[in-house]
Amino acid sequence: MNVYDGARMSELLDAEGMTRVSEVEADLVVLNTCHIRERATEKVYSDVGRLRRDDGSTPMIAVAGCVAQAEGAEITRRAREVDIVVGPQAYHNLPALVAATAGGKRALDLDLPGLEKFGVLPKRPRQSGPTAFLTIQEGCDKFCTYCVVPYTRGSEISRSFNAILDEAKALVDGGAVEITLLGQNVNAWTDDRHGLDHLIRALDGIAGLKRIRYTTSHPNDMTDSLIRAHADVEKLMPFLHLPVQSGSDRVLKAMNRNHTTKSYHDVISRVYQARPDIAVSGDFIVGFPGETDAEFTETLQLVEHIGYAQAYSFKYSPRPGTPAATMAGQIAPEVMDERLQRLQAVINTQQNRFNDRFVDLEMPILLERKGRKVGQLIGKSPWLQSVHIANDAAQIGDMIAVRIESVGPNSLAGKPILKEPHVA
Ligand code: 5AD
Ligand code: SF4
Repeated sequence: MNVYDGARMSELLDAEGMTRVSEVEADLVVLNTCHIRERATEKVYSDVGRLRRDDGSTPMIAVAGCVAQAEGAEITRRAREVDIVVGPQAYHNLPALVAATAGGKRALDLDLPGLEKFGVLPKRPRQSGPTAFLTIQEGCDKFCTYCVVPYTRGSEISRSFNAILDEAKALVDGGAVEITLLGQNVNAWTDDRHGLDHLIRALDGIAGLKRIRYTTSHPNDMTDSLIRAHADVEKLMPFLHLPVQSGSDRVLKAMNRNHTTKSYHDVISRVYQARPDIAVSGDFIVGFPGETDAEFTETLQLVEHIGYAQAYSFKYSPRPGTPAATMAGQIAPEVMDERLQRLQAVINTQQNRFNDRFVDLEMPILLERKGRKVGQLIGKSPWLQSVHIANDAAQIGDMIAVRIESVGPNSLAGKPILKEPHVA
C-alpha cells in the first residue's frame, strides 16, 4: 500500500507542476514511511540524516506515512531538518503543506478524514505499467494486540464500488493487464450489501484486464462467496495471502486474533476445495510475549500441515501504545533469532517443494520488467512466482507461454514455447 500511496503522491505533485528528479537535485524529498516494526521506523531517521548535502544544506523534507501518523511532532523535534509531517489519510494536502512552510515554518497534518483523499487526488495517469495496485479498503478494526495499523491507518473503511471500477478502468486504459486490490483488510471490503467477491466479479467484466489479485486478508473475513469466486472467476489468480501469525491457540488469543488454528485450517481446506492448485502464503510472528518453546513448535507444526508456497516471518517487535508492548514475558532477542531461523528453514523447504512441482510444466507468464542480463525479461506466474526468461522477441506487458526449466531460491527460469504456426 505504501507503493500505491507513493505513486499517488507523485502523481499529485506532478499535477502541481513538479517534476521527479534525483534525490541530490530535489527541492522537496518525500519519505513515505512504515511503522509496522521498529526497524522500519528507525530507517526514517537515518534517511533524514543521509539527505544532508555536502554544503550542510538539506532539501525541504516531508515525512509521510504511518511513522508520521504515529510520531507526529516528535519527528520535527528529533529531526530538525524535517519540514512537513503528513499522515497516510492526509497526503492529498501535500501542496497546501508545502505552501504553509513559507518562511521556514513547520507544517503538520495528522487528520484521519477517511476517504477524503480519494476524492481530491488527480485521476490516474494515462500510462501505467502492465501491473498496477489499487487501494479499495483502508484501516483495520481488528486490534491485534501487537499491531499499530488500527492506530496509524484508522478504522476500516471501504471505497465505493463505482470509484474503484472507474479507477480500474483508467488503469486498464493506461495499459495495466493485472490489478492487485489492496487493503489492510482487503477481504473485509463491502459496499454495505456485498463483499469483495462482488467487486472481483465486476472487475472480471473489464475487457483487457487479464489478472486480478488481492492482498492482505484476514481469516475471519474469508466468506464462502469469496472462496467461490476462486473456483469460478478465471481472472482471479490462484494465490492467497492469508496471515495466521501463530500455530498456538493460546498465543492467538493473547494476540486477539479472534480465530483459532482450527478455524484457519477450515478456511484453508475450503479454499483448496474451490481451487486445488492455489498457492497459499502467510505471515508469522515469532517471540510474541509469553510464547513458550512448545507453542513455537505448534507454529512449526501448523506450517508443516498447511504447506505454504511462500511466507513472511518476523521477530515480534514491541510497538509503543499497543497492548502487547507492556505484556509480561517479553522474549529475549537470541531466543527470537533462533526461532526465526528454524521457522524460515521450514518455510524455505516448503517454498522449494512448491516450486519444484512446476519444472517441465507450461504456464502463462505476464512479463513485467527487464532482468539484469541482456535480453532477459522477468515476469510472474499465476502463482506469483518470479520467472526469468531469455527472449528478445517478447515485450514487457506480453503474456506468453513458458516452459519451466529450473528452480532457483527465489525464482523460476524457463523458455518461451514457440507455438507451431497454424496451417490452414
Ligand atoms: N512485530 C512483528 N511483526 C509484526 N507484524 C505486525 N505487527 C508486528 C509487530 N509488532 C507483522 C504481521 C503482519 C505483517 C504485516 O507484519 O505478521 O501480518
Ligand atoms: Fe494489524 Fe492485520 Fe491485526 Fe489489523 S488484522 S490489527 S492490520 S495484524
